[in-house]
Amino acid sequence: MKSMNPLAQQLNETLQKESPNVYAMLSNLGKAIYFPKEGILSQSAEAKTKATKFNATIGIATEGGKPMHLKLIQDTLSAYNPKDIYEYAPPAGKPELRSAWRAKMFKDNPSLEGVSFGNPIVTNALTHGLSIVADLFADEGDAVVIPNKNWENYELTFGIRRGAEIVEYPLYNESMQFNSAALRDALLAQKGKGKAIVLLNFPNNPTGYTPGVRECEEIVAAIHDAAEAGIHVVAVTDDAYFGLFFEDSVQESLFSKLAALHPRVLAVKVDGATKEEYVWGFRVGFITFASESQATLAALEQKTLGIIRSTISSGPHPSQTFVLHALQSPEFEAQKAEKFDIMKGRANRVKSLLDSGRYGDTWEYYPFNSGYFMCLKLTTVTAEDVRQHLLNEYGIGTIALGQTDLRVAFSCIEEEYLEELFDTIHKAVTEVAAR
Ligand SMILES: Cc1ncc(COP(=O)(O)O)c(C=O)c1O
Repeated sequence: MKSMNPLAQQLNETLQKESPNVYAMLSNLGKAIYFPKEGILSQSAEAKTKATKFNATIGIATEGGKPMHLKLIQDTLSAYNPKDIYEYAPPAGKPELRSAWRAKMFKDNPSLEGVSFGNPIVTNALTHGLSIVADLFADEGDAVVIPNKNWENYELTFGIRRGAEIVEYPLYNESMQFNSAALRDALLAQKGKGKAIVLLNFPNNPTGYTPGVRECEEIVAAIHDAAEAGIHVVAVTDDAYFGLFFEDSVQESLFSKLAALHPRVLAVKVDGATKEEYVWGFRVGFITFASESQATLAALEQKTLGIIRSTISSGPHPSQTFVLHALQSPEFEAQKAEKFDIMKGRANRVKSLLDSGRYGDTWEYYPFNSGYFMCLKLTTVTAEDVRQHLLNEYGIGTIALGQTDLRVAFSCIEEEYLEELFDTIHKAVTEVAAR
């Protein structure tokens, strides 16, 4: 076996000393990865502050003291300074963006007060944050515990890329609340492995469900029980749809409650601007670790930078600048609130249609209170048949998930059309059943 790079070894020694439980969670890649201290990027960073005469370090081109650029590109981006667009962003992301996002985290999650966590590291949106988690912590055969209603990409990120074993538990219990007993069992079943990665995604894709306060206490207790049983738990919150809470669910990320839960729990927050700020194509997200130990946070950041440097090198600079501009803008809150009201209006309209009795017992629906989606549970016909019928006969697109579930993204249907949409889905179900 190739011997460990001395920098990786140093990071590992820090983790072994400061947080041996976190060290035990690392994958082989997580153990081996490091960020080159004396490489091109750090020499160049040093030159940026000290090379007052000529800076001939990094692979960009300059002209007149500014990044070289084509006029035709700058003409369309003239609101921005070339230095905020064309230069490479640092692998960890623009420092001002990182602090602005950290400040936003505190504002949105008052219970983070007093919690020790690292500076958010910029990722190429949430998918990339999740794949960093997979790279750092998932080895072949490691368990990734997710509910049976989940975002399909987890399978590729953790299962296919890293060979982890996906362990599913039912999202809802019999009273159609979050099934924390099943989560607890799924976690405790990993005792033999001594390790589990648990992904918590609220508001949930595809159901649009976020648990309430008591359910969240049970989730946290289940993870605590697993840690007490000797299992090292990487507890990841996928907060993709954060903030879109329309009813009386919790309104904060579970990250705060997981952060200092137990020495054998490492809380990782994966979030970003994608859905929250309606900037899907910008690819700006964040990964944030919690630890009481600053040295542990620094080591995890170095390892994360190693993963970033070795995959995408750094995230796109223009979109980091755009998001930073938004976060710093005085109009940000008001404009976000406007969009929130539109989304909430749609969610409420869907619910009132479903509860109006006009659809009889054609379907059930899974409890939803947040996010972009809701899911119908079709009892008499298969979801795929209905999906095809809707598409072919009515030009309506939905997503079929498994045998029974039909996901409807109310996020992209104007409120005034929701009645027609659900009436047509109802018609399609009836027609398919009559075939
Ligand atoms: C639950 C969940 N997590 C993560 C993502 C990925 O987000 P991004 O586009 O920021 O990579 C999505 C997008 O559909 C999602 O639904």
